[in-house]
Amino acid sequence: MSFYCNKFIKQLNLNEVIKNVCCIGAGYVGGPTMSVFSDKCKDIVFNVVDVNEERIEAWNSDDLDKLPIYEPGLDEIVERCRGNNLFFSCEVKKCIAEADMIFISVNTPTKTKGIGAGKASDLKWVESCARQISKYATLHTIVVEKSTLPVRTGEVIKEILDSSKPLENKNSTFDILSNPEFLAEGTAINDLLNPDRVLIGGENQDAINELHSIYKNWIPEEKIIHTNLWSSELSKLTANAFLAQRVSSINSIGALCEATGADIREVSRAIGKDSRIGAKFINCGPGFGGSCFKKDILNLVYLANYFGLPEVGDFWESVVLLNSWNQNRMSRIILQKLFGTLTGKKIAILGFAFKANTNDTRESPAIQICKSLLEEGANLKIHDPKVSKKQISNDLSIPPEDECIKNPEFNKLYSDKKWNKYSLTEDFFNDVDAIVILTEWVIYSKLDWKVISNKLRSPAWVFDTRLIVNEQEVLESGLNLWRVGDGTLN
Ligand code: NAD
Ligand code: UGA
Repeated sequence: MSFYCNKFIKQLNLNEVIKNVCCIGAGYVGGPTMSVFSDKCKDIVFNVVDVNEERIEAWNSDDLDKLPIYEPGLDEIVERCRGNNLFFSCEVKKCIAEADMIFISVNTPTKTKGIGAGKASDLKWVESCARQISKYATLHTIVVEKSTLPVRTGEVIKEILDSSKPLENKNSTFDILSNPEFLAEGTAINDLLNPDRVLIGGENQDAINELHSIYKNWIPEEKIIHTNLWSSELSKLTANAFLAQRVSSINSIGALCEATGADIREVSRAIGKDSRIGAKFINCGPGFGGSCFKKDILNLVYLANYFGLPEVGDFWESVVLLNSWNQNRMSRIILQKLFGTLTGKKIAILGFAFKANTNDTRESPAIQICKSLLEEGANLKIHDPKVSKKQISNDLSIPPEDECIKNPEFNKLYSDKKWNKYSLTEDFFNDVDAIVILTEWVIYSKLDWKVISNKLRSPAWVFDTRLIVNEQEVLESGLNLWRVGDGTLN
């Protein structure tokens, strides 16, 4: 079954109610966001468009398990709305032409070359959207920045929109709004239904009110904040920087706990009770992952340096440096505990996603940690409930062992870097030397250590980088335990 944009003749004048919304980008933000919008605004048609045909096909799949994104609760909403007022397609031109409001929800990764490489955001996808909108939009269109963008990108978008109009649309007009998304993966649906706040930045109050009226369908008025465009753009980068900073802060103290006999869980509890600090985002772990924290902080660093504030840039860059150090620390500790050599040792990796309840692996600490362990000669048995073998293979840039066996060239190239993905059966643990928990999936907190310990090769280790296992059960099963931030086990 496939679902196409419905036929809709655009008739909007500003101050009329929004009837047709287009979202460019059917990714982790565009897909879930528009699904929730369509569920809450039945009188509006939502067309989510993307250039990636495979992704759109997956969004239109009859089998809801095949949606391109795993997010708890998403499948039910898609089932309810798709084909009614929610449509996924590659018909970019048509959907732009019909839309009263267009969300730009495309990727904004870090530039890999040219000026600002390694720090500044690559805005080529945003620019391409702006050019397409300018070309195809008709009458008046409100363009909403949903992607996370550097401060003052609104200015660039406006310039492109106004300067690239073809003759037949020369009278078309635009308003730009910034409406950054604060959802976190794994809890996206709840975050979209019950956000702490919705931020709308803009210059034209009528345009702000139009977007406000959409959110008003389910968000209490007092949670909808209006700011100017630049404050809104900068607030998004700042929010991510503050959150990531907390993770690096607690991870730095975790390392100190390990060295001093303190326990990071006790320290987190103690500081979190201070209402000025708060209990959230102080879980020690292998380091933050995800597609945004690193790129958004590096973007902030770039902006600070660009505006002549190198001390500000250095301050935020240290958050990212600490994070890389912490990720590398995990593989160094594993190597050290396993007598300084991993050659030929079997290591079970539990979890590859950057956090639980998502299939996203972008910047997952698992990638760097697994690469280092493979480099040391370990043989990895990887499990993750939602990440595919193909994705792991792409992330590691090494084919799995079964593919290597079939292909003599691969076999030669990767003979000392063996990994495969398995189901979590009891056999999974046969002859394993160490178990490394990298993602906090609930199933890993419910493992039967008595049963597992009989399968392992002694002396076997459990490395818990997410603080989810029961210490007593692991130790009573005769296994060695290392836990991030726990100095009491030394
Ligand atoms: P994503 O890579 O999952 O999705 C982006 C999609 O845009 C891709 O499918 C791509 O094919 C499509 N695209 C790019 N250019 C296009 C064009 N010209 N026309 C049509 N489609 C186009 O990215 P994402 O994770 O959804 O993130 C999108 C933005 O939202 C980023 O700026 C990110 O920083 C921000 N953000 C992400 C999250 C998150 O949790 N992932 C949360 C908040 C904000
Ligand atoms: C984060 C923000 O939380 C969202 O508000 C924001 O919209 C989003 O980035 C974005 O702009 O992309 P997300 O990356 O999906 O969301 O997930 P988080 O829950 O923030 O976790 C990020 C990383 O930090 C994960 O690897 C997680 O395991 C780690 N983390 C988080 C910790 O190690 N400890 C914590 O206490 C919290």
